[in-house]
Formats: sequence, C-alpha cells, structure tokens
Amino acid sequence: MSTELSELIQKRISTRGFLDQPVGAAELRRIVELSSRAPSWKNAQSYKIIFISGQPRISLLAELQAALQAGRPVRPTYAYESGHPSLIKKRMFQLGMDLYGHLGIDRKDKAARDAHFWRNYEAFGAPVIAFFYIPAGLAEWSLIDLGILMGQMSLVIESMGMASCFQASLSVFPDIVDRYTQMGPDWKMIVGMALGYSDPEDPGNAFQSSRAPLEEVMQIID
Ligand SMILES: Cc1cc2nc3c(=O)[nH]c(=O)nc-3n(C[C@H](O)[C@H](O)[C@H](O)COP(=O)(O)O)c2cc1C
Repeated sequence: MSTELSELIQKRISTRGFLDQPVGAAELRRIVELSSRAPSWKNAQSYKIIFISGQPRISLLAELQAALQAGRPVRPTYAYESGHPSLIKKRMFQLGMDLYGHLGIDRKDKAARDAHFWRNYEAFGAPVIAFFYIPAGLAEWSLIDLGILMGQMSLVIESMGMASCFQASLSVFPDIVDRYTQMGPDWKMIVGMALGYSDPEDPGNAFQSSRAPLEEVMQIID
C-alpha cells in the first residue's frame, strides 16, 4: 500500500466542527467524479448524491430542529436497529464513553449531552450537507453499492484537504429532506453527511475513535 493512502486512511476522522469556508461546485463535482470510481454490482452505481448549501441548508436545518423540538416522532427510511449483539453494543457504548471523555462531558450532565446532540442538527457548522439516496424499489444490494461509494468518498474528501462526518441523525425526517433535495418517491434517502473544512481549533477534531482488536473482526482459516 502506498504510504500516502495509509496516511490518508489513518488521518480521516469523523469531523464534528467545521470552518465557515464554502466548498465550490467544482470541488463537489470532483469529489463525486473520483468517489464514483468505486465498484458497484454490475456497475449499477445505484445511488444519487444531493448537496445542499447556502440558504436552503439553513432553512432545512431549521425545519429539522423545529420538528424535533415539536416532538415529532422520528421516522428514518431504515429504522434504527436495536438488539445488537453484546460484542457490537460494547463498541458503540465505548465510542460514547471515549468521545464524551475527550470533550469533558460528564455522562450524567444531560444539558451538556443535549448540547452535543444538537450540534448534529447544525451539521456541526459544515457549509455543505450531502444526502445519499438509493432507488426506492431496491434494498440490501444497493446499500452495498452506496456504502462502498461513501467509504471511498470520505477518503477522497480527506485527500482534497477537506473533512466530513456521516450523519444518520440527518435522516430522521426523510420527507422534510426530500422537499429540499427535490427527490420524488422513486428515491429513498438513507443518510446525510456534513462536508467542509475542518476547524483545527475545535477540540472534538483531535478525537480519534478506537477500533476493535483484529481477532474480534477477522479470522484466517488455513
Ligand atoms: C452510517 C453512519 C452514520 C453516522 N451517523 C453519525 C451521526 O449522526 N452523528 C455523529 O456524530 N457521527 C455519526 N457517524 C460517525 C461515526 O460515529 C464514526 O464513523 C465512528 O464513531 C468511527 O469514528 P471515525 O469515523 O472518526 O473513525 C456515522 C457514521 C456512519 C458510517
């Protein structure tokens, strides 16, 4: 593996604090041009990415915040799963512990946890929000195409000196998002992503999440 690629992979983190610095259309096009070199089943490329910035971004985030504040029940396209096996649950719990620990948030401090939660609905200050769609009639195999694209995209973004954070949190009201993305019923929105330039002063951006030991995620049968 080239040093450059391994460095990029290790440098990429989910960025949760962005500068107020715009990302131009040419950069967005380049990001998709490179990311969509990702493999997909029979080259289906069964996805579409819609970028929202400027005033529509501001209005969209305000609508999502208002809906949450009004107590509207969340309804993501794919319901959040529960019942994770304990091995997986442990990792998710660990992330919360580590991230809150890094940010100096006491787990019992509900106000501080809420403040962090709400940052999701400001897209962490990112000037661009991407929404990822797959065709409405398709499911698992298209999600694989999309997942590979997303992973590749996060590295392409990193290689261009920018930063990102995938956001399941932005998928809670697909109907609201669909109005802004102008996607009709033939497409379903899966997940969002904050995109922009990392704020080096944001303490959260110095956080690197852990990974499970290799023995937990792989086995070699010889
Ligand atoms: C599909 C998906 C949805 C995610 N949703 C959120 C989210 O809503 N808010 C958030 O802060 N991070 C979110 N993340 C980021 C993960 O928490 C992060 O990728 C994980 O903790 C590993 O950390 P790293 O990306 O910094 O290596 C999401 C990641 C993925 C892949």
